[in-house]
Amino acid sequence: MRKPFINKPFEEYILRGKNIIVGICGGIAAYKTPHLVRLLKKSGANVKVALTDAGARFVSELSLATVSQEQVYRSMFPPTDKAGMDFTRHISLGEWADALVIAPATANTLAKLASGLCDDMLTACFITLRPGKPVLIFPAMDGQMYLSPSVRRNIRTLAAQGAIIVNPESGDLASGQCGTGRMPEPESIVRDIEQAMLSSIERSMLHGKTIVVTAGPTREKIDDVRFISNYSSGKMGFAIARAAALRKAKVTLITGPVHLETPPGVERIDIESAIEMHAAAVNFFSSCDIFIGAAAVADYRPSVYYGGKMKKESGELQCTLVKNPDILADFGSRKTGSQLAIGFALEQENGLENAGKKLESKNLDLIALNFFDRKTSGFEVDTNILTLINREGEITELPQLNKDEAARKLLDMIEAIYRKTSIDT
Ligand code: CTP
Repeated sequence: MRKPFINKPFEEYILRGKNIIVGICGGIAAYKTPHLVRLLKKSGANVKVALTDAGARFVSELSLATVSQEQVYRSMFPPTDKAGMDFTRHISLGEWADALVIAPATANTLAKLASGLCDDMLTACFITLRPGKPVLIFPAMDGQMYLSPSVRRNIRTLAAQGAIIVNPESGDLASGQCGTGRMPEPESIVRDIEQAMLSSIERSMLHGKTIVVTAGPTREKIDDVRFISNYSSGKMGFAIARAAALRKAKVTLITGPVHLETPPGVERIDIESAIEMHAAAVNFFSSCDIFIGAAAVADYRPSVYYGGKMKKESGELQCTLVKNPDILADFGSRKTGSQLAIGFALEQENGLENAGKKLESKNLDLIALNFFDRKTSGFEVDTNILTLINREGEITELPQLNKDEAARKLLDMIEAIYRKTSIDT
């Protein structure tokens, strides 16, 4: 009996943007793996394939490269004649992954994994995967092999190490016999991966935490048809809200006018001006665990608001601007106990210095320095280049990432702060 779907809205999104390695060994069930890769890609996952030499006898490298839209990883040693090859791939592929799925897993690879051997990319990924990332193993082989004491012992060892072993199904086997040993269908494997990702989220430090995220631009009205605003698209704030909801936090998203769908499981409050955003945010100041200021709040608003539509006059128009409240700084000055204040700093020059000053002056626990060029990072684009700075002055430079991935790295860092606080206290 396969497991039913749970928590529908989360499951629909759980694999989106996740990095998954599909490890394929040399069993006849390997012929099903291009379909598996295709289903994972359709769910929005980034998929890379680690194929053993024996696996390559059952399924073509070209098919897998085509459906994954990535090179297929086999040997730990890239060809030395090609410039720019990734010489640390035996480490970097495992580090990249959010989950490792080995399907089909043969008796030979199970033995290697159980004893810590790593002489190809698949087994190296198993060793270099980051702690807490799920490993799912789908043994598939002849029924007698599956029941052999050696295979049983290796499976027990791997299960004791935390790997999720999914038992093979019963049915017709390639040997012509009928018995246990069949790899589950790819649709069923995808559901198991979703379940595993959900369970790993349940272990998140953010589970049950109350998180408020501000996002998007604010509009500061000049009259009823004109306003001052900025180019913020809200994408970063929405990505943070989505990623936090996936970790089962209780998320409130206070957003200025944007053209984005509310992420599942997120409570959304729409506002227009900085004053309105401040008024909405203040309600959560004492109750939230984490306040994340991702909005591009207009620093100033016109001092006078004209009701109706202002008529054009001859000569110049003087417009005096007055300061808006700094929402994040207000939270920073009032936060107590274990409450965390997280901010962004969009800088064009002296980034580290300016971000450090904002961290201090707004009493933040973490600040994400946002590189601004409007092509690879900053407003309106889909990727971001963030540098994270914590209260100890530790600096983590992230590469150019899509905003979902950048949001996850930011949340990982917030979890690390929680972990450290709980060790220190
Ligand atoms: N912020 C805020 N309220 C404001 C201005 C900024 O909550 N009125 C928050 C932003 O959401 C961001 C951080 O403060 O998390 C820094 O915003 P940024 O625009 O980079 O800095 P400012 O403090 O506005 O300073 P400047 O524009 O001079 O760089």
